[in-house]
Amino acid sequence: MTPDPGKYERPDRTTVLAWLRENDPAALEALWLQADTVRRSQVGDAVHLRGLVEVSNHCVRQCTYCGIRAGNREVNRYRMTAEEVVGCALRVAGLGYGTIVIQGGEDFGLTGPWVTDVVTRIKAATPLAVTLSLGERLPDELREWREAGADRYLLRFETSDMALFDRIHPPRHGQSVKRWDLLGRLRDLGYEVGSGVMVGIPGQTWGSLADDVMHFASLDLDMIGVGPYIQHPDTPLATTAAGGPDQVPADATTACKVVALARLVRPDANIPATTALGTIDRAHGRELGLHRGANVVMPNFTPDRYKASYDIYPDKAALGDPGEDLPGTVRELLRRLGRTVGQGQGSRGG
Ligand code: 5AD
Repeated sequence: MTPDPGKYERPDRTTVLAWLRENDPAALEALWLQADTVRRSQVGDAVHLRGLVEVSNHCVRQCTYCGIRAGNREVNRYRMTAEEVVGCALRVAGLGYGTIVIQGGEDFGLTGPWVTDVVTRIKAATPLAVTLSLGERLPDELREWREAGADRYLLRFETSDMALFDRIHPPRHGQSVKRWDLLGRLRDLGYEVGSGVMVGIPGQTWGSLADDVMHFASLDLDMIGVGPYIQHPDTPLATTAAGGPDQVPADATTACKVVALARLVRPDANIPATTALGTIDRAHGRELGLHRGANVVMPNFTPDRYKASYDIYPDKAALGDPGEDLPGTVRELLRRLGRTVGQGQGSRGG
């Protein structure tokens, strides 16, 4: 029976934990169906396309899971010019997308004024919403970028287990910024706020993952990005043994459970079928995400000469591989799934 979309109950932590631990594929069908039903009733069949531009792989941080961490000498570092980024924005807009996502390592070589200039030029030249994802930047910079017209900011909290967070995110100069505080500040500045987690980080427990899901609701997130942890050989975390019996696995099904639960606790959020999900299950990952609560995909518009160097984890999936970044193919995928292409900026509630 199809659940009545008006009637579903938002799961409490006990229910969330029970779903996370559920392993029976037949029982999980009920979770997938509920998430898909709530997705349709709350945000409809439109899938919003966000053009992702990875503007720099320089990074001052030492996150123990990430391939572009400062300590990794194997990376060819690059930083795009403002002209290149604006050029990508024109392409994204020309293809009818509503949003550009400007993402990079925590790179202070992307100076505050440089980002302000790029945002200003994109807002002047296109109707795009501008999403920034540039790490833990200074309050004054975040305010200036918002004033220049940036609409949204993405900063995953990665895990709500603070001991685990501190282990995998060595602070800069011994100062740790509380990401919750920064997310609140972004909200106060008037950004739409996105966050999320990795699923299956070594040391991550079911209980902490249930807490993560409950935080999606308490933070009232506008956007929720969830993907499986993927081991990168040139990082310290690759040599860390995964934890004990309570260890969350880093697989597509578990990541999908978190996507589905995110939809149930934050019914009208924008939730992408992430690249990491498409990487761990190349044949079906994104499609599964879109069937289990997601309503956004983020095709990669990083120029080819830089793409391979944005190596946060190995073998990142292009949308469907050769050529599938082309809009025709994304549209083809959505048509096959019975979904439509989102029009306009695809903001929360609009
Ligand atoms: N596996 C999966 N996701 C990763 N990220 C960074 N490194 C990895 C990895 N090894 C994710 C983080 C970050 C986002 C941009 O990419 O969650 O917030």
